[in-house]
Amino acid sequence: MTENKTLTLTINGETHAVQMTGVRTLLSVLRDDLGLVGAREGCGIGMCGACTVLVDGRAISSCLMFAQQAEGSQITTIEGLPEGDHLHPIQQAYLDHAAFQCSYCTPGFILSTVALLQEHPDANADAAREYLAGNLCRCGSYGNILQAVLASKTVKS
Ligand code: FES
Ligand code: FES
Repeated sequence: MTENKTLTLTINGETHAVQMTGVRTLLSVLRDDLGLVGAREGCGIGMCGACTVLVDGRAISSCLMFAQQAEGSQITTIEGLPEGDHLHPIQQAYLDHAAFQCSYCTPGFILSTVALLQEHPDANADAAREYLAGNLCRCGSYGNILQAVLASKTVKS
């Protein structure tokens, strides 16, 4: 018989208790249990980056992580980036550079950019391209995304 368990997750600075049965991905819990739908399901197999969230500051594919593995970590989703009515500076840079079309990939790109600039504040265009290679944009907005990333170097918080 599958046991019902309570999982405790810290997301965007708040603690959430989630009733869980069986093993589920972090992406599923974020979206289906907590309504944090900024993390999107694209491929579901770790190939597109649409489901990217930060776990203890590292960009991870939430479709590949079991929710149970995230207990005890600080999880950040795109919903946790703005401060009140103010977009995070990297969100603003994406907006300023029109770095999206349909925007399906955008939360993942923005969170990967946050991780990139935390790890490599002086990343150049080549380093940014390499770091963000796991994030795919089917609309082909790569040029504008790169502009937004490079502009974010001067404005990131
Ligand atoms: S949905 Fe997770 S990497 Fe594509
Ligand atoms: S803006 Fe449409 S997938 Fe990237």
